[in-house]
Amino acid sequence: MSSIDAIAGKPRILTGDTPTGQLHLGHWVGSVKRRVELQHSHDCYFIIANMHAYTTRLAKSEDIRRDSIAIVRDYLAMGIDPEKTTIFLQSEIPAIAELTFLFAMLLPFNRVMRNPTLKTEIEVKGLGESYSFGFPLYAVGQTADILAFRPVGVPVGEDQVPHLELTREVARRFNQIFCGVDEHAEDEDHSKLGGVFPIPHADVGVVGRLAGIDGINKMSKSLNNAIFVADDAKEVEKKVKKIFTGRQSPTEPGDINNVLFQYVRTFIKDEARVKELEEKYAKGDNIGDGHVKLEVAAAINELLAPMRERRAKYEGRDDLVLEILKAGCERANKVAEATLERVKAHANLVHWPRHVRYV
Ligand code: TRP
Repeated sequence: MSSIDAIAGKPRILTGDTPTGQLHLGHWVGSVKRRVELQHSHDCYFIIANMHAYTTRLAKSEDIRRDSIAIVRDYLAMGIDPEKTTIFLQSEIPAIAELTFLFAMLLPFNRVMRNPTLKTEIEVKGLGESYSFGFPLYAVGQTADILAFRPVGVPVGEDQVPHLELTREVARRFNQIFCGVDEHAEDEDHSKLGGVFPIPHADVGVVGRLAGIDGINKMSKSLNNAIFVADDAKEVEKKVKKIFTGRQSPTEPGDINNVLFQYVRTFIKDEARVKELEEKYAKGDNIGDGHVKLEVAAAINELLAPMRERRAKYEGRDDLVLEILKAGCERANKVAEATLERVKAHANLVHWPRHVRYV
């Protein structure tokens, strides 16, 4: 059992995404499915990290705005319930920006720059020496995204773990410097000892990594190998047919570890049928890839059907999506402002009562 599940009541969690475009089945398998489950047992905050998108796509701010709305539309389609959860936009939470500045003082500069996720990004995106000051600052910003909400857990993929380590360090240092928590205190004891921040856990869980229809790479929009949540039934069939296995005939023994069978196990719900398909395929018992693909496409379409239905309500209705985001931001600002108030009190930054209005 993961740490966040072990806590009774409705513990708070926070996670989110940098808006990059439409969501695909890789997002569903890797993170959103889990969030849809967690929304029943946890007090969930989902951040759309639009400012993070500005770190590398500053000149494409119109796209970022469009993508931010699109990602929320996809969340809603996939079953994230805005009545049960708080979906909000990073740029509308001023406390996050304020905390970022203060938190930047709690981390040695070189510690931030050693963050392996930042290093990989610089490499993969070919940023060289040309990245802005704001680029590494986003890692500090992410500690503020999280700590503003004082969650106990942060469900993320493996690649985000270094950011969580940074977040835990900020929380510990703040509690030590400003709240008098002893530097040898155990992480679990920080709240009890008067620290403003619980030390949040990365909840990495068993995250599925779905291969793309090219059968080689991870599913990704930029690699042109993705099945989107917004694809219609015909499109899904067309894409599934393209899955490449290299198998020649229905009587050739097949490799049930190939990408097609990853899809079989991920999307076909009837376990007995999955077993049967695996056995026949492994033996080459007169079962063609074409047939397996039909069953996979049908299963994916069954998964997507209710998503398409929910999505239809928001298609071309950015106003409805924005309304949901606005309500989320109101709730998020209440929590983040309360945190900021405590932070400022502890850091000797209160000179008179704060009166800020956002809504
Ligand atoms: N950096 C994360 C990503 O690209 C998105 C993100 C921003 C995030 N702030 C967060 C995730 C806070 C978890 C918690 O996927």
